[in-house]
This record gives sequence, structure tokens and C-alpha cells, in this order.
Amino acid sequence: MTRLVPILSKAAETASVLNFQDILERFAFDNVCKLAFNVDPGCLGGDGTVGAKFMRAFGDAATLSSGRFLYAIPILGKLKKFLNIGSERRLRDAIRTVHEFADDIIRSRLEQKVDKDADLLSRFIANEANSPEFLRDIVISFILAGRDTTSSTLSWFIWLLSSKPDVERNILKELGKIRAHGGKNCGDSYTFDELRDMQYLHAAIKEAMRLYPPVPIDTKVCLNDDIMPDGTFVKKGWIVAYHTYAMGRMEGIWEKNCREFLPERWLENGVCRQVSPYKFLVFHAGPRICLGKELAYTQMKSIAASMIERFEIEVVNKDKGVAGGDKNSEQ
Ligand code: HEM
Repeated sequence: MTRLVPILSKAAETASVLNFQDILERFAFDNVCKLAFNVDPGCLGGDGTVGAKFMRAFGDAATLSSGRFLYAIPILGKLKKFLNIGSERRLRDAIRTVHEFADDIIRSRLEQKVDKDADLLSRFIANEANSPEFLRDIVISFILAGRDTTSSTLSWFIWLLSSKPDVERNILKELGKIRAHGGKNCGDSYTFDELRDMQYLHAAIKEAMRLYPPVPIDTKVCLNDDIMPDGTFVKKGWIVAYHTYAMGRMEGIWEKNCREFLPERWLENGVCRQVSPYKFLVFHAGPRICLGKELAYTQMKSIAASMIERFEIEVVNKDKGVAGGDKNSEQ
């Protein structure tokens, strides 16, 4: 928070307009690198030259590789790849930058010979069966998992709050109570227990993810012939996709008011209730459920609480949503 708050304070003093999504992405990127590999790329507020180059390359690689699915004539993509031209060339360059960044992290970890419990990556390194390529994939998947997800949720959350002053008031009321109980002033950081007690804020963030899930669609390939619980047969090799964004807007799952941003739908006697992960699929479900779920909630609540109680955020071009997103939802 020591990096984020000064940037927001400066903008508040000068009444400047900030690109929130960009700031939150940088912040999340620095956070995930620090947590998972004990590396500080300094993308927010620091020098950040290396981190910024990597972040750009990471974004390019993600956009360009998903663009491969959109070729009207798939053979054209293969030809571009073979000739190393156009988007395929840019993709190759971006992947090289991403690999170099990840390899540097692993190399410095190996040189420092850090304790195996020092951070997440050290635990994977301690297992000698893990190849350098596997470790590189671990670094990349942690960054992918932790960078866009929390920043996208918080961007939509701020956007949703801008049309719901009553929800913001309820959050402030809850934060005020927690501060009073702990004898704290605005600006003091929250403990884990205090973050856990933020049940209304938890519900509001969950509700934002129901409407704007950071992973809006997910696909899997069927390993063996199988039958789904409803009797649908799926053959080995078939692709199965589930659409979390659409599921969040289905009356059959979330009742008639499913398109409304209503944190109260999650609350039971003031406590944010759990529902089956197969119903609220935002973090996936089953054995491959998100490993960073609790960490993500803790981070998002801590960031949201610090921002909301310190600043009044006015969203410009509200009708455009976040990064030109959904305009049809009723708020
Ligand atoms: C709002 C925040 C987040 C959301 C909505 C989210 C969502 C998801 C989803 C949907 C998956 C399953 C992907 C798949 O199998 O296709 C996943 C996996 C994963 N997530 Fe998250 N995630 C979030 C934050 C984080 C954070 C902060 C971390 C840790 C830094 C993290 C670490 C992981 C890991 C390691 C996996 C892979 C689990 C496995 O395959 O066994 N996630 N996440």
C-alpha cells in the first residue's frame, strides 16, 4: 500500500484523472512477484524499466496468442509462423522477453541458494525433479494468475460502486465499526482478523466478480470418454467450455434480479455466505480450484478498504464501463 496510496494522494491533490486499471495491474504485478518469488519489479512507483518491458510483452503474448483462435483461414496463421512474419513474429519476440524475465528470476534464486520455505518458487526449486522449463512455466502461470485477476475485479468494483453510493456508504460504515473496535485511525493498516471481519465488503467484491468474472470463460479438453452428472456424454479429446460471465446473469441460478449489483444477496445475518463453487465458478471448482483464492480476497479487501476510506473516487466516462466493457448491464 506504501506505493499505491501516495500515487492516489498526489492525484487527489492535483485533481488529476488516473487510469485505475493500469495502476492496479502494475500494483498487482509487483505484489505477485514479491509474494511468489521475492522479486520487486518496481512497476508501480519504482524504476520499473525491466518489469514494465516484461509486463508489456506479457500482455502482447496473451493478446496475440488468443488472436490465433480468430484466424478465418487457420492455415494463414501457420504460414505466418513458418515465415516468422506479422503477428507471429511479434508473438515470438514477446515470448522471448517473457522467458528471459522468468529465467532471470529462476537463475538469481538458484544463485542465492535461498531457504526452501523463503517463497513459493523456492519450494518448487527444492524439488530437483522439476526441470528449468517446468520452473519457468510456474513463474509465468503465477504471474498470469495473480496479475490481471485482482486488478480486473477491483476496476469493475470501483466502476460498480460509482453508481451505488448506498453500497459505498455500507462499506464505510463497516470499516468505521472495525476501526472503532480496534481503536485505530484511518490510515493504520488492517490485521488479518480485521480483514476477515469485513463481511459486507467481502460480499460486495464477490458480487462484482459474479457480474464481471476475471476469467469469463474457461475451456478444458476431455482426457477420457466421460458422462457428465446430467447424463451428457463427452468424448475423449472434446473441448468443454463453461461461461462464467453468462452463468452470473442466469435467472435460473441467481434469481430474477441477477443483473443487479446487490451485495445483500450474499449476506445471512451479517455474514457473507458460501455457495457451491460449481454455482459460483469464478475461481473454478474441484481439484484444480484457484490456489490463490484466499490470498486474492485478502489482497482485494485490503486495497479496496484503503482506497474507499481515504478517497472519493469519481469515475469519468462511466457509461463506457471498464476498458470498453459491458454497457448493457442494469446497475
Ligand atoms: C480475483 C482473483 C482470482 C480469480 C478470479 C482467479 C481465478 C482462477 C481460475 C478460474 C483458475 C482455474 C484456471 C483453469 O484451470 O483453467 C485459477 C487457477 C489458479 N489460480 Fe487463481 N484467481 C485469482 C487470483 C489468484 C491469485 C492472486 C493467485 C496467486 C498468486 C492465483 C493462483 C492460481 C493458481 C496457482 C492456479 C492454478 C491451480 C491449478 O491448476 O491447480 N489466483 N484461478
